[in-house]
Amino acid sequence: MAVFYFLVVTILPALVVSLPTINLLKETLSTVERALTFFSSDYSSINVDGLFGLRIGQGQLIEAANVCAKKKNCGEYLKLLKSLTKQLDETCEKALPYIEQSDPDYYKRFEQTISKPYILPYTSTKFDSSVLSNIRTGTNSSYVEEEGDACYARIMGTFEEPKSGLKTTRCNITNSCYNMMTSQGTSKYAITHQLLFFMVIEHVGCTEQVEKFINGHKLREIQQGFCQKIYKEADNLVVNGKVKSSHRDLFLEQSVLCGSLGFEDFFRSDWIKMTLTWPDKKDGCMKSSWTQLLEIDSQKLVNSLLTNPKAHQLAGEVGKSIENKFEEELKKLSGSKTMRKLLREKAMKDDCMAHASGLAFGTFGSYVRYLVLQL
Ligand SMILES: *[C@@H]1O[C@H](CO)[C@@H](O)[C@H](O)[C@H]1NC(C)=O
Ligand SMILES: *[C@@H]1O[C@H](CO)[C@@H](O)[C@H](O)[C@H]1NC(C)=O
Repeated sequence: MAVFYFLVVTILPALVVSLPTINLLKETLSTVERALTFFSSDYSSINVDGLFGLRIGQGQLIEAANVCAKKKNCGEYLKLLKSLTKQLDETCEKALPYIEQSDPDYYKRFEQTISKPYILPYTSTKFDSSVLSNIRTGTNSSYVEEEGDACYARIMGTFEEPKSGLKTTRCNITNSCYNMMTSQGTSKYAITHQLLFFMVIEHVGCTEQVEKFINGHKLREIQQGFCQKIYKEADNLVVNGKVKSSHRDLFLEQSVLCGSLGFEDFFRSDWIKMTLTWPDKKDGCMKSSWTQLLEIDSQKLVNSLLTNPKAHQLAGEVGKSIENKFEEELKKLSGSKTMRKLLREKAMKDDCMAHASGLAFGTFGSYVRYLVLQL
């Protein structure tokens, strides 16, 4: 009896927990490797947003290697984790000058978010199911990019007063920024960009000053409030175990931001397995399709297709050339003031999308870290 009890209580649960974990870890690592091979081979066409995802993934892999080094049963993964972080660092460094060249202003403004890996404090947190069940998701998905960008720039010390051209000092936050970034009822990319604001504050070392400005409220509590709502939204995107391809970019953004902060509800094994099926098996990236590119900013795009005879003609062309020429259209669009900059998609080689592929990379990095922690 005692032996049987020992088996059931001690050994069986260990087997039940760790075998799937190990398999998932192996599968995630090979997906990360494939994605990295892709980015390494096309670093010259990564954009700011793609690199942002890579930097988050880099921080996660560095932390995974640190955790792994302290574990007895992680030895076989340590070498791989270290070589992945090394290759990743080389790729990011090589990409930087190309990004700067292609968009100097945007680069200058957001340099601090892409110049180094994101090492964010990971605090393992599980949501309380009774709290979750009382949460209502927002409906306001509009986000004023210009206003938001200015708030990010204030934090990073790259904001210039419009009239005087004077630069404000780093870690600057105003009431109107705080109100915008905490406004209630937001959803989709509006809420993820609100959350990201409170992550960037941490990333660039402004936590203390900002917490003082907001009367001692803790950034972590604000992040948690957002991630609970975001979790419910993400859950709503999954229908019969699937997420529509047009919603995958959002799902990845939700997962990578909240996951990398340690909100472990995002590491459901069904979600991990599902997202691992999304990248192209051969090329390792998230592929674009004409319809997905359309959804980036369908309204403006439709307008542009209707009013621009050249674009109209292009839209009629089928096949490979679409992506390239489409990129020109996208470039024109992204120059327009109201385009959501953080959502800027860019076509890379083999019909791969920079934003979604970067986010996928970051997400998989956070999975690796979580799974290594479970070993
Ligand atoms: C939605 O959010 C935007 C940007 O924060 C805000 O200007 C607008 O008033 C909000 N709309 C509603 C209906 O709350
Ligand atoms: C932020 O900058 C504004 C000027 O744009 C200044 O008036 C304000 O005092 C600064 N706030 C903080 C918290 O540094």
